[in-house]
Amino acid sequence: MRVSIVGTGYVGLVTGACLAAKGHHVICVDVDQAKVALINRAQSPIYEPGLDELLRAHVGRSLFASTDLPAAVQETEITLVAVGTPFDGREIDLTYIRSAVRQIGEALRHKDDYHTVVIKSTVVPGTTDGVVLPLLEQTSGRRAGPDFGVGMNPEFLSEGEAVRDTLEPDRIILGGIDERSIEAQRRLFAVFGDVPMIPTNPRTAEMIKYASNGLQAALISFSNEIGNLCAALGDVDVVDVMRGVHLSRYLTTRLPDGTAFSAPITSFLFAGCGFGGSCFPKDVRALIAHGERAGAPMAMLNAVMQINDRQPLRLIELVRKHHPDLRDLPVAVLGLAFKPGTDDMRESPAIPVIESLLAQGAQVRAYDPQAAEPARQIFAGRPLAIVDSLEEALAGARVVVLVTRWDEFRRVPELIRGCDPAPLLVDGRRLIPRESVARYEGIGWSKR
Ligand SMILES: NC(=O)c1ccc[n+]([C@@H]2O[C@H](COP(=O)([O-])OP(=O)(O)OC[C@H]3O[C@@H](n4cnc5c(N)ncnc54)[C@H](O)[C@@H]3O)[C@@H](O)[C@H]2O)c1
Repeated sequence: MRVSIVGTGYVGLVTGACLAAKGHHVICVDVDQAKVALINRAQSPIYEPGLDELLRAHVGRSLFASTDLPAAVQETEITLVAVGTPFDGREIDLTYIRSAVRQIGEALRHKDDYHTVVIKSTVVPGTTDGVVLPLLEQTSGRRAGPDFGVGMNPEFLSEGEAVRDTLEPDRIILGGIDERSIEAQRRLFAVFGDVPMIPTNPRTAEMIKYASNGLQAALISFSNEIGNLCAALGDVDVVDVMRGVHLSRYLTTRLPDGTAFSAPITSFLFAGCGFGGSCFPKDVRALIAHGERAGAPMAMLNAVMQINDRQPLRLIELVRKHHPDLRDLPVAVLGLAFKPGTDDMRESPAIPVIESLLAQGAQVRAYDPQAAEPARQIFAGRPLAIVDSLEEALAGARVVVLVTRWDEFRRVPELIRGCDPAPLLVDGRRLIPRESVARYEGIGWSKR
């Protein structure tokens, strides 16, 4: 099929590259000319494993980038919208959706062939049929249904594994206002093979995305709440507690030959310094606000966010237990991305951790294997050093705060062994065995 994708961020570009790899003809559209130019040179504007290879193989053949949205709509039969949907502090911000949809509608005014418009961005239930559809009708002068299709296909990819998630999806939700809108998506996604597909209405499709994110966020805050109690009680280690929880037959399947498989959902059942990223925080907040407005306040998700908002600062409390005065204290912050495998720093717990250290006068050196560039932009002009190696970050540090679970950080005990005085390691991800360093503090554990 000929498909256009509006928005070439993590979702739009990865989806475009994967659909091109599977044989569709794809035009990726963005308002950002620099991104478009990079993509057309087969260079990815973001770090995502496997993406560069896909771009090198398909750009100029079945994958093209452009800033010309009307032309892309004319040349294709289906348009996916994958622009950002931030939270504005009060509710979901649909500015980018409205602007993209308005332009698509205006392009449809000049197109006689049937076209399908599918929202891929995460939007609160009711947005596709209540905001997108009327805006498309208004700007195109045509009728949804007979003249064009409207669909909602939520995205479940996880940054760092986005290419794999897209090429091997676990489910595909086909929200549509009618059978024709659903069928157009079914044809587009047929290239991914035998995947469970749920045809449904757009509101249900929208809700499935929020329910999925809400569940994962809730499991993380649940684990953190348990971990915080472990630390308060002393001599109870949340790592052992959660291992015990994981071994329940509901979470781990043991085969007769002794091999065992843990359900992947257990990866959200670990205590740490909180979740971040471009999705969980904003999506949970948007759903809470939406529930409030619908007269169905979400007490549980409110608590999920409250726990999460406080969690990064627990690392600072652990530092202050040993160093009450942080002025001029050399601190290494390990990890800036919100999770390993990505350069994305949006809502990363590293941000409040660094802000708090700087506010208290610490000398901060930060290191991340991928996120140095975004960090330099976020902290431009601020008094911290963003260094290029783990060794550089550790040099002279009195305190080491581990924020992101990068595998490379497993080398910390070996790198700080023999340092005099021994630095304090504050482990926000419980990555390092606590007996492997001289001075240790971690989330979810304390000495009694
Ligand atoms: N990042 C993820 O892991 C992820 C996973 C699932 C769902 N989502 C959802 O997908 C959507 C996109 O997320 P993202 O992380 O890819 O966003 P992003 O910010 O990385 O990319 C959005 C892109 O859209 C472009 N854009 C904005 N307005 C435009 C317009 N009118 N025309 C053309 N381009 C325009 C921006 O320049 C930007 O490049 C969001 O709703 C997000 O919640 C994201």
